Amino acid sequence: MAIALLTPSFWVPLLLMASPIVASQATPKVSQLFQFTYPTSVQNLLPLPNGCLLLSTSDTSNLYYLNPEAIYPAAQNVITLPNSVALSDMVALGDGLYAINSGGTPAVNAEGGMHIHVVEVATEGNVNVTLDHSIPILDSSSAVGMVALPKYPRTILVADSWKGRIVRIDTINNTTEAAFEDAALQLGTNRTAPGVRGLNIRDGHLYFTNSGQRTYGRFPIDDQGCKTGDVEILAHLDANDESVASYDGFSFDSEGNAFVAVHPGSIHKIAPNGSQTMFVGGADSKFLEPTSVVISDDGKSMYVSTGGRNTGYPISGGQIMKVQI
Ligand SMILES: *[C@@H]1O[C@H](CO)[C@@H](O)[C@H](O)[C@H]1NC(C)=O
Ligand SMILES: *[C@@H]1O[C@H](CO)[C@@H](O)[C@H](O)[C@H]1NC(C)=O
Ligand SMILES: *[C@@H]1O[C@H](CO)[C@@H](O)[C@H](O)[C@H]1NC(C)=O
Ligand SMILES: *[C@@H]1O[C@H](CO)[C@@H](O)[C@H](O)[C@H]1NC(C)=O
Ligand SMILES: *[C@@H]1O[C@H](CO)[C@@H](O)[C@H](O)[C@H]1NC(C)=O
Repeated sequence: MAIALLTPSFWVPLLLMASPIVASQATPKVSQLFQFTYPTSVQNLLPLPNGCLLLSTSDTSNLYYLNPEAIYPAAQNVITLPNSVALSDMVALGDGLYAINSGGTPAVNAEGGMHIHVVEVATEGNVNVTLDHSIPILDSSSAVGMVALPKYPRTILVADSWKGRIVRIDTINNTTEAAFEDAALQLGTNRTAPGVRGLNIRDGHLYFTNSGQRTYGRFPIDDQGCKTGDVEILAHLDANDESVASYDGFSFDSEGNAFVAVHPGSIHKIAPNGSQTMFVGGADSKFLEPTSVVISDDGKSMYVSTGGRNTGYPISGGQIMKVQI
């Protein structure tokens, strides 16, 4: 009887807390592959042709390598990049070359000091990562999201979130120029919170997440990455229901669904029409501040990097998580 009496009141807070973002039907299986010790935070992960992952970390400029199929996956430091204190995004340029962005924390980069490092990654035999060259970015103080142009993969677009613009960097001739700016790329009302965090290109559109504005949207672009039409905001996080939630990096599956890392602990799925569901995670989830998501080529699993937490007990380093889809 006591249980029956308690039941109605138990539902009241649940209803009050209900968020407009509903959970997906099946609960995917989540496992932790590896966890760094505090204060190492994983910002981004990038799949290599051999199935292993490159990991960028933001407490140092160390780049790591991890085999997610190993029985006991362990991150191996493969290079420490020069003139940098923190790494953020990574992108494949083709021919075994990768660009790594050493932007990230505004405090570190307020005076400039951002670089794009071009590294060569050989995965035959033992992994061998060598620095090809570094491109200083003099007039940007914050750049996180990064994507290569599909037609010109040695040219990348980088989000300069402090200036609310997209910068184009040619990694062959080392030139940097503004591609376009837009109010949708500006910081949110909280000027100390991050702005654009994720960038991706699909079907002639540049997709972005803006953490501070709590938006996910896209611009039509041409082959050079210039804007050819107005922004379209496809989804947003509701300021009333999830006041601490914010978008970070994201990846597309083959159908064009975006899987978005959402702080403090979930992955949202946003369909091409903008309908948004909680794919995995939520309150009490195993994810400690998700930062980026990649989907395996066979579409059967997803890897998530996290930043870790400096609050609560115990404080925790960043994680590499696997989600079975
Ligand atoms: C790694 O690659 C560099 C550049 O291609 C080469 O000079 C070096 O010998 C390689 N190191 C190993 C251990 O294979
Ligand atoms: C790009 O910069 C690197 C390193 O500064 C340099 O080695 C390379 O020659 C530059 N490329 C061009 C086309 O200037
Ligand atoms: C660098 O290459 C781009 C094409 O990718 C070209 O538009 C630009 O003019 C080049 N800049 C220089 C200084 O050669
Ligand atoms: C603004 O953002 C910063 C960094 O995310 C956060 O620490 C701070 O609490 C935010 N301030 C407000 C008023 O929300
Ligand atoms: C949007 O797409 C989702 C997933 O494909 C579908 O379930 C939903 O009905 C669509 N919503 C609208 C308004 O078309």
